[in-house]
Amino acid sequence: MRVIEAEDYQELSNIAADFFINKVKENPEITLGLATGGTPKGTYRKMVEDHDKHGTSYRSVTTFNLDEYVGLDSDHPNSYYQFMETHLFNEIDLPFRQKHLPNGVAKDIYKECIEYERTIEQCGGIDVQLLGLGSNGHIGFNEPGTAFETMTHVVELTQSTRQANARFFNQLDEVPQRAITMGISTIMQSKEIVLLVSGESKQHALQQLLTRQSDEGFPASVLTKHPHVTIIADRKALSGIPVNG
Ligand code: GLP
Repeated sequence: MRVIEAEDYQELSNIAADFFINKVKENPEITLGLATGGTPKGTYRKMVEDHDKHGTSYRSVTTFNLDEYVGLDSDHPNSYYQFMETHLFNEIDLPFRQKHLPNGVAKDIYKECIEYERTIEQCGGIDVQLLGLGSNGHIGFNEPGTAFETMTHVVELTQSTRQANARFFNQLDEVPQRAITMGISTIMQSKEIVLLVSGESKQHALQQLLTRQSDEGFPASVLTKHPHVTIIADRKALSGIPVNG
């Protein structure tokens, strides 16, 4: 795993955005895996700025998001669908039919998981997957204890993840109990992975990732087995952790 140290969140966002913009320029038909959460917001903002200023086009790009809450339809202000619309999709020229998120209100959410996997496969797999890091080591919504072999599936969210995400809702009660998430195996099948880690609250999780053996008790540790991972972390997240450069 390559670790890039950024001075602060702003620099982390610039580095990550440049990384994705260059990937799109190199391969305008790229398939990107995208993430929600607070961490990638700055990256998306920079990508939008670049699209406005320099016209980088997403006309031929395909995207797959990691996850979606069960029970929130695409119009719900807290759905990940709306998050993506607000922070990226509404602001770039990505065609509607080329963006994909799991459907959290599908009649049969289990079948939806199978179909989501099939669609990823039909598109030739994910070229570059963007990830954030949960403070308990979750990636997507794969909570500690998730088998590394899992494909897209329905998860019960842990109390700590619901609490962490309650900041986007009016109150904790409104945070859904379940979500559909790409599985760990789905994520590992991406050709390349970029993990963003920002702030002191993630320092412990990042330290675990960089120092412990890969095990299912800490989902992100699976990334140590992937051949092409770049971690972009800011100084606060990296405090006290030696970096390989
Ligand atoms: C959420 C999302 C993850 C995200 C993580 C970290 O639960 N499902 O995909 O990476 O939490 O979020 P944040 O970037 O807000 O810290």
